[in-house]
Amino acid sequence: MFPIHYKAVELPAYNANTLRALLGLHVVNKSVDAPKAGQLLLHMLAAPCNPSDIAFMQGNYNVVKSLPAVPGFEGAGIVIAAGEGVDGKFWIGKRVSCFAQDDQDGTWAEYFIAKPQQLIIVDERLTTEQAACFFINPFTAWGLFDEVLKKKSKAILINAGGSRVAEFFFALAKRNQIQCIATVRKNETALSLKQNEVGEVLFSGMDDFDGQLQKSIRAMGVSLVFDAVAGDMTGLIANSLPSGAEIIVYGGLSGKGLSGINPLQLIFKDLTIRGFNLNQWFSERSDKQINEVSASLAAMIITGEVANPIGIQVGITEIAQGLKHYLGSMSKGKMLIKF
Ligand SMILES: NC(=O)c1ccc[n+]([C@@H]2O[C@H](COP(=O)([O-])OP(=O)(O)OC[C@H]3O[C@@H](n4cnc5c(N)ncnc54)[C@H](OP(=O)(O)O)[C@@H]3O)[C@@H](O)[C@H]2O)c1
Repeated sequence: MFPIHYKAVELPAYNANTLRALLGLHVVNKSVDAPKAGQLLLHMLAAPCNPSDIAFMQGNYNVVKSLPAVPGFEGAGIVIAAGEGVDGKFWIGKRVSCFAQDDQDGTWAEYFIAKPQQLIIVDERLTTEQAACFFINPFTAWGLFDEVLKKKSKAILINAGGSRVAEFFFALAKRNQIQCIATVRKNETALSLKQNEVGEVLFSGMDDFDGQLQKSIRAMGVSLVFDAVAGDMTGLIANSLPSGAEIIVYGGLSGKGLSGINPLQLIFKDLTIRGFNLNQWFSERSDKQINEVSASLAAMIITGEVANPIGIQVGITEIAQGLKHYLGSMSKGKMLIKF
């Protein structure tokens, strides 16, 4: 059986220019031997592109791998072999969602090596497409929503409201009768969110966006914000918040630092700004807790509470085409590589 020869997407160099970075990607032939002690080998079924993959290719992410590197932070596959010290009888044949980390080959490949803690066994009723996008965004939404519950907030604002994280978040908010303001950068995204009745939706290009933002924050009593964009938007939102409010930054989609925050507002309104990191959230939970959350999130997908759409599916050699499509219409769903 070993070595197995397979295809993988490889990034030869980081490039701050997204288009150049993705045009630099190429498909290479690689081979893998039997998994070492503590490892499992997965035959990959599918892997998506997330904003973290784009930031990684730009060299702007907290994970920096030695180059050339295989990108991809999550996906779905079937376990086909187990190394020493891993219960092969339990794992082999299982369909799993996987998460890649550190300086290891990622999931944009036909085969992927992982440790058991990088895997979640997925509900068999989830499609492969859903299983491939299960490890990162649904759990992030759950982790962010934990903050709503901890703070006993009744209304929140989420920036980049057209994302998959936001979609799971809105479903949790609906269950718990939490009111949401969603801010988005495209009018078409605003219209589609309004159609889905997610709450108040504000398009950042609308006339008097700042005024509307202030009005809605005041009317709904928002004192907790989840921001995935950063840049000027953080300042704009911060300066509209009431005393004691908190902003949790969970992404940097603008590629810019936080700016425009009025220091006097920060001081005299006692605002708090902090980050959220999914890895940290996972590390603070037991396997039992993660399995319970996993079952609840799977149920949300199976019952249609969230749509979690896939925007485009491509073969491994069509990666550049798939990525261009995703970057042009991120709110419409993920780009998925099918192997
Ligand atoms: N902190 C963590 O642990 C953690 C974990 C998971 C995800 N995240 C973050 O969560 C965010 C959402 O991830 P996702 O996978 O759910 O996203 P996604 O489904 O791929 O959607 C991305 C969304 O961001 C919008 N967007 C992109 N660039 C933007 C910009 N410069 N200004 C305003 N909106 C912009 C897109 O709108 P268009 O349709 O207009 O392009 C789209 O609605 C990302 O920032 C990601 O890095 C963080």
